[in-house]
Amino acid sequence: MARSKIALIGGGQIGGIQALLATYKELGDIVIVDIPEMESRVKGKALDITEATPHAKVDAKLTGTSDYADIAGADVVIITAGVPRKPGMSREDLLSVNLGIIRKVAEGVKTYAPDAFCILVTNPLDAMVYTFYKLTGFPKNRVVGMAGALDTARFAAFVAMELNVSTKDIAATVLGGHGPTMVPLPRLATVGGVPLTDLLPQEKIDAIVDRTRKAGTEIVGLLKNGSAYFSPAAASLEMAEAYLKDKKRVIPSAALCEGEYGINGLFIGVPCVIGAGGVEKILEISLTDDEKAALQVTADKVAATVKETGL
Ligand code: APR
Repeated sequence: MARSKIALIGGGQIGGIQALLATYKELGDIVIVDIPEMESRVKGKALDITEATPHAKVDAKLTGTSDYADIAGADVVIITAGVPRKPGMSREDLLSVNLGIIRKVAEGVKTYAPDAFCILVTNPLDAMVYTFYKLTGFPKNRVVGMAGALDTARFAAFVAMELNVSTKDIAATVLGGHGPTMVPLPRLATVGGVPLTDLLPQEKIDAIVDRTRKAGTEIVGLLKNGSAYFSPAAASLEMAEAYLKDKKRVIPSAALCEGEYGINGLFIGVPCVIGAGGVEKILEISLTDDEKAALQVTADKVAATVKETGL
């Protein structure tokens, strides 16, 4: 069987780590695409990682390019092309510049990799995945946004830090837009099957929920000249792997809702089954009235940003 092909559109901070992780996971051959001014840099990253493959003990062909034609035949396309946040900026502040970039990316992917499973990472996430979907016309099961995977990982990391337990045993779900209005669901979180609400007092849970909502901003404040890149790379690779290996993982992701959760026509974070069919299914959770109200707030926020795309 031929190796899978993974196209990484954007070879900056996140794209470079994605290339390294995809290599170590031996997911397939990797093409890193960037703008012509950055072609030399992505060629350098591809060669540098190639020279790490003897350590990784894996086989992978890595290339760097500025020619979208080189993504032809890609099974998965992961898009980080765009500008990241600086301290003081919200994800929405990136809308106009990243909208122009996603327009170009959508054209390239539509032309050269029309059958790929496409994972968007560029912010503001929910609006960028909507834009890409509209411009490519790809089926909804093959277009998804990476947000919930990361937001859930952040929540799990904070729970593990608080309880001093393995992150492996923490199960959690975060709904809604990728921003401060997201809706973590601690009511449903478990640690080795034990409800989180049995293990931590409400004020500690509230603090973890609050920190999760602001986790991206916390990293931006610490890094000072960009946004998180290790964790978004890891989260997006988990989604790519679920698709390539038909794992049917349940991963909260920004998927197109058409009636689910009473939301229509928006990409927003919901629990998705990801396998060889892409987004194979959206799982619906019965929510409490408070959770429903919080989901409405975040859906309204996403709708307002989507409206600004003019699409
Ligand atoms: N095609 C391909 N790559 C592009 C294009 C394009 N049309 N336009 C810009 N890029 C590239 C940039 O040249 C840069 O190398 O996208 C890369 C983005 O990398 P960084 O600036 O390092 O940003 P990064 O931290 O990787 O974040 C990328 O993901 O999480 C989001 O908010 C974040 O929107 C940002 C994106």
